[in-house]
Amino acid sequence: MGEQLKYLLDESRIPRRWYNIQADLPKALPPVLHPGTMQPVGPADLAPLFPMELIMQEVSTEREIDIPEPVRDIFRLWRPTPMYRARALEKLLDTPARIFYKYEGVSPAGSHKPNTAIPQAFYNKEAGIKRLTTETGAGQWGSSLAFAGALMGIDVTVFQVRVSYDQKPYRRALMESYGARCIASPSMETEFGRAVLAKDPTHRGSLGIAISEAVEIAAQRDDTKYALGSVLNHVLLHQSIVGLEAMEQLQMADAWPDVVVGCTGGGSNFAGISFPFIGAGLRGGAKPRIVAVEPAACPSLTRGRYAYDFGDTGHMTPLTKMHTLGSTFTPPGFHAGGLRYHGMAPLVSHLKELGLIEAVAYNQVECFAAGIQFARCEGILPAPEANHAVKGAIEEALRCKREGRAETILFNLCGHGHFDMQAYTDYAAGKLTDQTYDESELAMALSGLPSVPEPA
Ligand SMILES: Cc1ncc(COP(=O)(O)O)c(C=O)c1O
Repeated sequence: MGEQLKYLLDESRIPRRWYNIQADLPKALPPVLHPGTMQPVGPADLAPLFPMELIMQEVSTEREIDIPEPVRDIFRLWRPTPMYRARALEKLLDTPARIFYKYEGVSPAGSHKPNTAIPQAFYNKEAGIKRLTTETGAGQWGSSLAFAGALMGIDVTVFQVRVSYDQKPYRRALMESYGARCIASPSMETEFGRAVLAKDPTHRGSLGIAISEAVEIAAQRDDTKYALGSVLNHVLLHQSIVGLEAMEQLQMADAWPDVVVGCTGGGSNFAGISFPFIGAGLRGGAKPRIVAVEPAACPSLTRGRYAYDFGDTGHMTPLTKMHTLGSTFTPPGFHAGGLRYHGMAPLVSHLKELGLIEAVAYNQVECFAAGIQFARCEGILPAPEANHAVKGAIEEALRCKREGRAETILFNLCGHGHFDMQAYTDYAAGKLTDQTYDESELAMALSGLPSVPEPA
């Protein structure tokens, strides 16, 4: 028998509570501002879009929040997820580092996104909501909400970013199989979509535009609310289940991380794997380095400005203080569609400002090369988004080799790439190129940031 490869927890060990990092922050998050008055929003301002339970989670400073039993029951379909020791990758890299990864691709939709889709659909159902609207980039979030809607008996309408809609027809088929309606964004179904198409009929879309379309529809009807797959505090809270399980699994392996790595689009899977470890460090425990990996073509954490900005391109959402490339910035159409967002979760941005996390950016081709290297020794073909985390973990392992350090690295393999085969086919044919954003477009988007008086 060789050495242990996977660390499994029994269903009874699914966490009973989510971890809320807001309880342990050394400095509170800046307030969310109303787009009309520029004053801090209250729960009532958010009520047209979200059910009250989620709004209360958004602002809660309780350290632990109970996971409802019906939600834990559904989680039994795929949780706890496995944690693996990547021994074959360690051998290939000839590194003294130990590499562990948490694998979220075992969920029905293929990524971490159902961890929040199920509770969001649950709280909406409890509030009597009949329909949810949302955006999707890669199609992972749309599939996850479609799955959650099917289980809870809620209709789901998904605005899928045009470039992903064209690149990934089978994600759309999956959403439709679950019973959701999937519309390419920008679309003719909303006032905002029509305005974008009037200016540019071939617009490739962006998450910021798709969010505006979904919010516009949700705001029109009392029985309809909006669901967001990342960025917001309650979404990051739901994803903490990933890190909480990983903590138990690392204890089974008699290990604790020196470095935790995750990819960042809006910040939710990164927060999921890392926040429980950051929290433990803030409460006096060990403080691992925490590394966020983002695409060089959409580098909000490494190149964005920390400022108040809108979450969407149509300026319908409240303003949050975050690292942003500007809400009108349209990233190039690279393959990690889930990472093409102009902003970053306020909580992740805040931690970066407090010096509690680091960020690096890599190009698409080097990330695909890392994903292929991983697949050829560990067997799992990662989602293009997850390739960024794989690349980040490999770079850390190679640093350990150079420095002769036997560190422990933990990363989040947040999804599989089985719906992303066109991207892998293009990579194999040498057709993938590193896409760069237009510097002048970035400068223009940043110059259009709203001017907001600093709240007292
Ligand atoms: C597989 C996968 N990973 C990562 C992301 C990025 O989102 P987040 O940063 O919220 O985890 C997405 C978003 O769609 C995704 O589908």
